Amino acid sequence: MIHPCNCLKSSQLLLLPGKEMVDYICQYLTSLRERRVSPDVQPGYMRDQLPDSAPFEPESWDNIFKDIEKIIMPGVVHWQSPHMHAYFPALTSWPSLLGDMLADAINCLGFTWASSPACTELEMNVMDWLAQMLGLPNFFLHHHPDSRGGGILQSTVSESTLVALLAARKNKILEMKESEPGADDSALNSRLIAYASDQAHSSVEKAGLISLVKMRFLPVDENFSLRGETLKKAIEEDRSRGLVPIFVCATLGTTGVCAFDSLSELGPVCSKEGLWLHVDAAYAGTAFLCPEFRTFLTGIEYADSFTFNPSKWMMVHFDCTAFWIKDKNKLQQTFSVNPIYLRHPNTGSATDFMHWQIPLSRRFRSLKLWFVIRSFGVKKLQDHVRHGTEMAKYFESLVRSDPLFEIPAKRHLGLVVFRLKGPNWMTEKVLKDLNKSGKLFVIPATVHDKFIIRFTVTSQFTTREDIRRDWALIQQAAVQVVNMHHTPKPVAISEEGVQVPNVITSPISKSIGAAPFFDSEEEESKRSSCKITVQPRRGSLSPSPWLFGDNVAVPEDPHLDDCFAEGSLSPTNHKVPSFSVQSKKKTARSLSVPTAGFWEVSHPKAMGLEVPGKSGPCTSEKLLSQLPREILMLKKSALKKHLKFYSVPSFPECTIQCGLQLPCCPLQATV
Ligand SMILES: Cc1ncc(COP(=O)(O)O)c(C=O)c1O
Repeated sequence: MIHPCNCLKSSQLLLLPGKEMVDYICQYLTSLRERRVSPDVQPGYMRDQLPDSAPFEPESWDNIFKDIEKIIMPGVVHWQSPHMHAYFPALTSWPSLLGDMLADAINCLGFTWASSPACTELEMNVMDWLAQMLGLPNFFLHHHPDSRGGGILQSTVSESTLVALLAARKNKILEMKESEPGADDSALNSRLIAYASDQAHSSVEKAGLISLVKMRFLPVDENFSLRGETLKKAIEEDRSRGLVPIFVCATLGTTGVCAFDSLSELGPVCSKEGLWLHVDAAYAGTAFLCPEFRTFLTGIEYADSFTFNPSKWMMVHFDCTAFWIKDKNKLQQTFSVNPIYLRHPNTGSATDFMHWQIPLSRRFRSLKLWFVIRSFGVKKLQDHVRHGTEMAKYFESLVRSDPLFEIPAKRHLGLVVFRLKGPNWMTEKVLKDLNKSGKLFVIPATVHDKFIIRFTVTSQFTTREDIRRDWALIQQAAVQVVNMHHTPKPVAISEEGVQVPNVITSPISKSIGAAPFFDSEEEESKRSSCKITVQPRRGSLSPSPWLFGDNVAVPEDPHLDDCFAEGSLSPTNHKVPSFSVQSKKKTARSLSVPTAGFWEVSHPKAMGLEVPGKSGPCTSEKLLSQLPREILMLKKSALKKHLKFYSVPSFPECTIQCGLQLPCCPLQATV
């Protein structure tokens, strides 16, 4: 008898839509640049497009397939786009796709060794590979004579951190019971306290909420790094209050600015005071594939557990979070349950990962990781990390070359944070306009109450051309914000009859028949109602502020990126002199944004700009007299170049441009 779900009737019936789907995926990934990065939809947009209830009769695959473009894609953020710069990467790659495809077909639940031996065994071996690839200590290996530890794939770093905290809590409660045998677990729990820096991810806070362990967020130094002395002092204070310190979550690569806590200082304190040291390297962990970034790992020998997301930068699909523990017995004593239906002939001798995690069931995640590691090899994965870092350095060089902007925290790896000099609202407005355009996607953070934009190089296909295009968009948005309060000035005419912008930049788009990229009624009204003129200091103009409408002028490559070498990687050596320690967590939304009179309250000199007195706006002559001569003499050819349409490189071009010889092309099998 044929199963009523016809997909099981014959392999042909899977093959045809399967091939169609693979074609669609190839088409999707090769044409990402043509899509808005983030959608232009409002909450509830899908409601009207779907029936109120599920179909009773089966629908044709054709019908379902059509709805992908119609209903799903309009609401998708295209995380694989080279113009996606928000959050941290969540990359994919062709071996990962294929690995998950196979895992989905097998769909075993590897909770015990017996429930699918290959699932457990591959995971143990691949986790050992991965630990060695990152240069982690041998005590994290499953297969090492001196090791009592091992690695497992969890769903997320959030879950790994919770697992580590629960294990630390259990361990401490057992220890406390030795001296207080009659004490109730919950009473002991109420005395426990854990630590993380005030830059730690919200998942650490959540782990505290779930475990009912008090979580204390400690201040960081000027490099946003948690230091040993700070921890030591906090432990002393808390002990004197009758609390029992148990756990520290050190972050390598914070979400806000990619800062690194000092493991080499925290480790000895934890070791002396008997605290569990857990390391959250969610994003930055992938960088340790490259030996040159391992300075941040100094002190890792003190860690009790370590976690990172191959599902971020390592081109392995979500979900795939690597988690290692030094002493697996501490996990097992926390999570072991032993119902008869889960026992098997090798119970006790084989590894049963159900005792290492919160859920029972688990996917065959190691397949995709195995495919990725083997398909690219350590070498291509290292190339990939270095490429992303180079792209970020390049972006950093562009930001630094423009005096309107500042970089309030040192760049590490693929994350650059920047802002417009001046009050927060300007940067906030730039961010809003950029995201509204859909042409790139960035998110904010705060650095010591300063609103910043995080720019992460996410895609392995991001090229210098992409970075220049996105930087040009950012400059255009910034210039529009800065000029929002300007009195429009007549443009100058050069010797060659070329119109020359009069202030910082003049999007003279109307005069050349192109609509400004970010124009809106709101901006138009603000522009005409405001009377503040801002003028660039002589020679301080950015080389690339001329942007016309939708056609983005791509600036010349200034080849400045080599000036921004990774430098000293010691977490204690990073100098960010202009910022003091951020004492409390604050969300971007909590910032109050002044809407008027910003020049009075800000520091215009710090912007490298001269601000005319309130009563006497500059004349256009005075403005022009202060412009650098090169700008006044702008050549026709140069202007033409700025006017040219930005051309979107095709996928194969992009692959060539990124210079990686297809190490990570999701479509390598097809090109
Ligand atoms: C430092 C850090 N820790 C934890 C997380 C949370 O990761 P997950 O989504 O895997 O729980 C993130 C997310 O970006 C992160 O940046």
